[in-house]
Amino acid sequence: MSDTNTYSIRVEPTKESRLSQVDFSNLKFGAIMSDHMLVATYDDGAWQDVAVVPYGDFTVNPSMSALHYGQAIFEGIKGYKFADGTVSIFRPDKNWERFNKSAKRLQMPEVPEGIFMDGLKTLLDVDRSWVPSQEGTSLYIRPFMFATEGALGVHPSKSYTFAIITCPVGAYYSKPISLKVETYYTRAAEGGVGFSKNAGNYALSLYPTQLANDEGYDQIMWTDANEHKYVEEAGTANLIFRIGDTIITPHGDTILHGVTRRTIMELAEKWGYKAEQRKVSVQELTDGIKDGRVSEAFAAGTAATVTHISRIGYEGQDYELPPVEGREFSNKVLDYLNQLRYGKINDPFGWNFII
Ligand code: COI
Repeated sequence: MSDTNTYSIRVEPTKESRLSQVDFSNLKFGAIMSDHMLVATYDDGAWQDVAVVPYGDFTVNPSMSALHYGQAIFEGIKGYKFADGTVSIFRPDKNWERFNKSAKRLQMPEVPEGIFMDGLKTLLDVDRSWVPSQEGTSLYIRPFMFATEGALGVHPSKSYTFAIITCPVGAYYSKPISLKVETYYTRAAEGGVGFSKNAGNYALSLYPTQLANDEGYDQIMWTDANEHKYVEEAGTANLIFRIGDTIITPHGDTILHGVTRRTIMELAEKWGYKAEQRKVSVQELTDGIKDGRVSEAFAAGTAATVTHISRIGYEGQDYELPPVEGREFSNKVLDYLNQLRYGKINDPFGWNFII
């Protein structure tokens, strides 16, 4: 996608930084936001007022359509600090592309490169001291857009707010997770909004996830809407398996096309593994776990990075995955990505976007 527009980005620094209040040795995911945020508004068919301002509340119109009809989308990106202090963002161009695909599906305006990418750069430059440097930490970056027109008729909003907020984070999951295969509730059907990162896809996961939590599982494993026979993704991340000697991830427009998932599949191919995007049935998984063909299973996402799966529950039975230590591919890919993102090795793919 190309956009030649450049936008002037006003910067209004905070008068009172909150940085000294942060305990960087104990970062919880999404608990404390950095000093600044980027905000831009869309009105009268044009983007305007692009600014980095102190993090703070929005004033919202009670009848705005994001609240009533769910025109709201978002992204998840991570920024890292190298040992020499360099700040780098991991593949934000791919998130920008996906953001605009979500926007199109939700009948929202696309956000131009001059706002999304240049805004990201300006924001991270202003808040570079918020990017943590300890192993396992990063700056989580959350671009989002919501419809702001105050009108209760069901139609695309005429006005929108685009914003980027950030927060220093530790691991989203600090240990391997267990998943319950969901065989009743549905995340997305063909032709729906499964591929888009809209707020509603997460709202609808909360109740079935709570039911899975009540049964002792950390997360759910979504299955297809038609038969509940094929694996789709977890509630908070994509899924990747090693079955036999092949690295496999479910595909299709009912799942989110994750940047981490794509990165891992690209690495698998480059490293000479067989890598496939195809349907994976729950039966293939459970049989494969029983006979040892499924040797690795993990969740892949910006927040989750690579999170090993320890156990899968299906129709009242638990299937235990092999010990994490022996998982050759997922440990290798996690280690490689950590080294790359913290600037410890060369970046042959140009994935690090240096600020
Ligand atoms: C991300 O991985 O960035 C996400 O948006 C998932 C969210 C559940 C934290």
